[in-house]
Parts: sequence; structure tokens; C-alpha cells
Amino acid sequence: MPNTALVRRGLDGELDRRLPKGLVGRVWREFARPYRRKLVALIATIVIASALVVAPPYFIGRIVDALSQVRDGVVPAGVGRTVTLSAVGLIVLALVTVLFSIAQRYYSAWLGEQLIADMRQRAFRHVQRMPVAFFTRTQTGALISRLNNDVVGAQRALTGTFGTLTANTVQVAVALAYMFALEWRLTLLVLSVLPVFVMAAKYAGRRLQALTRESMQLNADMNTLMTERFNVAGATLVKLFGRYDREGERFGDSAVRVADVGVRSAVVGRLFFATMSLVGALGTAAVYLVGGQFVLSGTMSTGDVVAFAALVITAYSPLAALSNAPVDVLTALISFDRVFEILDLPHPITDAPDAVDLEHPRGDLTFDRVRFAYPSAADSSLASLESGWSEALDTTPGPVVLDDVSFSAAGGQTVALVGPSGAGKTTMTALVPRLYDVSGGAVRVDGHDVRDLTVESLRAAVGVVSQDPHLFHDTVRANLRYAAPDASDAQLEAACRAAQIHEVISALPEGYDTVVGERGYRLSGGEKQRLSIARVLLKDPAIIVLDEATAHLDSESEAAVQAALRTALAGRTSLVIAHRLSTIVGADLILVVSHGRVVQQGTHAELVRAEGLYADLYHTQFAAAEA
Ligand SMILES: Nc1ncnc2c1ncn2[C@@H]1O[C@H](COP(=O)(O)OP(=O)(O)OP(=O)(O)O)[C@@H](O)[C@H]1O
Ligand SMILES: [Mg+2]
Repeated sequence: MPNTALVRRGLDGELDRRLPKGLVGRVWREFARPYRRKLVALIATIVIASALVVAPPYFIGRIVDALSQVRDGVVPAGVGRTVTLSAVGLIVLALVTVLFSIAQRYYSAWLGEQLIADMRQRAFRHVQRMPVAFFTRTQTGALISRLNNDVVGAQRALTGTFGTLTANTVQVAVALAYMFALEWRLTLLVLSVLPVFVMAAKYAGRRLQALTRESMQLNADMNTLMTERFNVAGATLVKLFGRYDREGERFGDSAVRVADVGVRSAVVGRLFFATMSLVGALGTAAVYLVGGQFVLSGTMSTGDVVAFAALVITAYSPLAALSNAPVDVLTALISFDRVFEILDLPHPITDAPDAVDLEHPRGDLTFDRVRFAYPSAADSSLASLESGWSEALDTTPGPVVLDDVSFSAAGGQTVALVGPSGAGKTTMTALVPRLYDVSGGAVRVDGHDVRDLTVESLRAAVGVVSQDPHLFHDTVRANLRYAAPDASDAQLEAACRAAQIHEVISALPEGYDTVVGERGYRLSGGEKQRLSIARVLLKDPAIIVLDEATAHLDSESEAAVQAALRTALAGRTSLVIAHRLSTIVGADLILVVSHGRVVQQGTHAELVRAEGLYADLYHTQFAAAEA
């Protein structure tokens, strides 16, 4: 559970964080400039609507002045006219204000939504291309929350903060100018209470800001917990260990803290509001008190005093908002910065500048003195995405998992990998489609270092069937078409027949249109693997990488998988992590992997004859499994 001290430290760290230079310029270039016409329209509507706030006090002042000329029931000429015109002015003004506010809302909504859509798309496209190492480290919940909340935060920044800032500045400027024009001494008096105001606003702003951040962080924690516990694997684990209560407490803890933060921010907000009204009342009272004297001494008209009192309120509230502007702007920019942080994550595994396409692959596969260590946390992820609080990530690379691994297979050959658990077999297979890049040496396909090929053409040439294949939550047909979008139904069926899975699919309630649930849970492990073999057959790659499903299959599906494999591997180079003796014996080359090294290689016949790990494995495991 994230402990509070750490979360707090993380939050402060976030607030203190120095924003990169040129951030504003970047926001402008990447997200605002394309829409500058609408942005200008927005600013224009904001400026006009804000400037209009001084008009009602003006008309009210005129009405009061006209009426105060009425003495003992005698109405001087023109009073009725002034009152009527001013009243009409007020109505017209209200209408115009409404029109402008609607226009303003339209432009700000349009820009805001457009910005959200832009940012989301860019972030999604970018994150997709991150290497596997990133996804193994990053907490999905934290990532999703970043893509949802910070994107919305950035949008609020652009339309909200920016809009309010402009509106308030214009409003204050116009109101103060009018006030000075009416009576400068009174204006200075009104401004003298300003420090109280600014302080209250600053305090409240800071508190609210910290509270908002805390609640965002807590929400992100809850998200992470839910996404992790509510996927099938997580939920099953919780059940099997009977941890409902503990998980409930953990979640409840965050939920209660969110509630607590909600109450605190409500109170702080109200306190601030109350202070504002108090100071406002104070200012108004002072205006009437001192302004009254001015009227008596004949230096000011009654109408002007009334107008002035009304202006006090229109000047105070934007001033309060503006005193918080630095914090608001900073918060807004932090959201942008957090989104940019994602957009700027490097893509280490991309095409080299002079990458070439792998054309008509033969499938020759060579490992040349390959060394490999899993990348360090700092190299593969972002601190703020990992754990919910900012701590520096470990920069030490993982231990060397593969060392000096060399072998060569000609197109069409089958290479079997055997060896104890944790030896590095899966890791070796991950290097072929460049899920990771080697730390030393090279993996070559048809003589090209895989890093010199375009990733797209390389991955098109390599098909992977993993031990626990993933199926999207979609129909069988859609899952198959993922490999070949243009395949006809007949082609899908042929692939499934070859993979020995057609009968199983046909027996499903809706055949090929059956939705295989999240993680394809309705199919057994063996069935899923055969479906994934069918998927690879549709892709028709020159090289196949296959993590053979381990034992625990009944003999019927064992036979089915074997038949499926024979078809799948025929005519293709294959790198198979083999558990079945039949696969191993039939391989052109067997690599015995132990502690990250290839300790023996050769054919079955050669290796059984030699003393060594293979002979041991053969006699203990494979022979026994066969019997
Ligand atoms: N994503 C990863 N990050 C860091 N280390 C990893 C990662 N995946 C595997 N390792 C480590 O690399 C070593 C080799 O793992 P690998 O999965 O290649 O073994 P394996 O031979 O496939 O084992 P098994 O037969 O059990 O599947 C192990 O020590 C493992 O802890
Ligand atoms: Mg493995």
C-alpha cells in the first residue's frame, strides 16, 4: 500500500518540479496553432463579454441620477426618457451578454474537445509503439489514468485557465479604469483592502491545489488496484488466497481518504468564498460611507456612488481569481508536462535511419555471440507510472541473462531449445522479432542484423506462438483476421483445419462468430494454442517462434497439437522451446541452454551419445514423460 508519507513527498515533489523551458511554446506549436482561428474567436468573445460587465453599473448609475432629480413630486424634463432608455439598455445588454457567452462556450468547448481528442490519439499511438519492457514494468491503471485525467487536465488548462485568465484581466482592467474615472480617491480606498483578499485567495488556492492533487493520486491508486484485481488472473488469485477482506480494506482506505479530501476541499472552498463576501461587503460599505460624504459635499453624484459600489464587486472577484493565477497556470502546465512526458518516451526499438526491408525472406536464422541483459527500470519506464509516487528508478541493468549464445539455422530447419527453467529460452525467442534488442553480438535473419531491417518487415517475417496466447475480446473470426485482415472465410477455415481447431470452433454455439471472452477464457489452454497456431498460419511467416505448451494436455489434444505443429512448422524455420520428445527428436538442431549459455548443441542422436546435460535431461525428463 502506498504509504502516506511517500505520497505526500511525491505530491510536493510534483508541485516543486521545475517545468521544462519552452513548454508554453510547445503547447502552442503542437496543440494550439492548428486551431488559431477558433482561438482568436474565443479570445474575442471573452474580451467583449468581460468588458460588458461594467455596463450595467453605468446604466444603474444613470437611472439613480435621473431619479434623484425628482424633488417633491416634480419630475424634470428628460428624466422619464433617461430611465426608459437605461432600462432598455440593460435588457439589450443582457441579451448581448447571453449571445456572447454562448459563443464563448461554443468556442471553448470545441477547442477543448479537439485538444482532448488530439492528445489522446497521439498518446495512444505513441504508447502502442513502446517496447515490451515498458509494458512489463508499467502499471496499466496508472497509464490509463494518465491518459484520461491528465489529458482532461490539460484541456481544462487551455480552455479553463486560459479563458478565466483573459476574462478576469479584461474585467479588472475595465472596471478599475471606470472606477478611477469616477473617483480616484475612492478607488484607492477600495484597493487598500486588496492585500487581505489576495492572501486569502492565495491560501485557499494552495490548499485546494494540494487537495486536488492528493485526490487525483488516490483515484489513480484506486484505478490501479481495480484494474489489477478485476482482471481474471488477479480476481482468481484473490479468491484462491481468500483475501477479500484485505483487498477490501486496502481499497476502502483509498476510498475513505478520497471522501476525506472531498470534505476538506469543500470547507476550504467555502471558507474562501465567505472571506470574499465579507471583504466585498466591507468594500461596499466603505464606498457608501465615504462616497456618501462626497455626495454631501457635492463632489460626486448619487448615481456614480451606486455605480461605483456595483463596480467594487465586479472588480473584486476577478482580482481574487487572478491572485491565484500563477498556481493555476502552473497546474495547467504540469498537466501538459505530464502528457508530454508520455509523448516523449523514447522508442528504443524502431527502424534505423538506413533500415532496409526484409524481402522474400528465406528464414536463415543466426545468433552470433549474443549477450543480453533485461533493461533497467529507468531505461524502460517512467517513475510516475510505476508506483504512483515519484521515486527515482533503478538504473542498474538486470543481470546478464544470455551470454555468448551462437547458433545457425538454415531456412526451413527446426531448432529445439531445451534446458532447465529460467535458463533463458523464452528470452532467446524474444530477440528474434525484436521484442528486445541484444546487449551484445547480433541476431541475423537472412544475413541481416535484425536491427538493420525495418521492424515492420521483420515482424511480418516472424510468427510467434506463445505458451499462453492472448486472444482479444472479440469473435474467433476477428481474432484470426488480426493476422490477415483480407483473408477470406475459406482461408480462415483452411488455417483452422490445418491447426486442428476447426472441429472445436464449429462445435461452439456461434461457430466462428463466438466471442472468446477476455483472455479467451472459454477455450482450454491447448485449444487456445491451436487457435493461435491457425492465426500464425494465416500470417504465413518464414520464421516461427514457438513456446510449446507444457504437458498437462490430455492425449487427444496432445495428438491434435502435434499434428497442428507439423503443418505449422513445415517449410519454415522454427525456433521451438520444446517439451515434447517428438518435437525434440525431429529437430534439425537441439540447443541445450543452461544459465544463459548454450552448453551443448547437435542432433538428438549426437547428444544422447555424448555425456552431458542433454543426456541427463533425456533420461530423467523426456524418457519419463514418454513412458
Ligand atoms: N521481463 C523480464 N525482466 C527481467 N528479467 C527477466 C524478465 N523475463 C525473464 N527474466 C529473467 O531472465 C531469466 C531467463 O528467463 P526466461 O523466461 O528466458 O527463462 P526460460 O528458460 O524461458 O524458463 P522457463 O522454462 O521457466 O520458461 C530468468 O532469470 C528470469 O528471471
Ligand atoms: Mg520460458
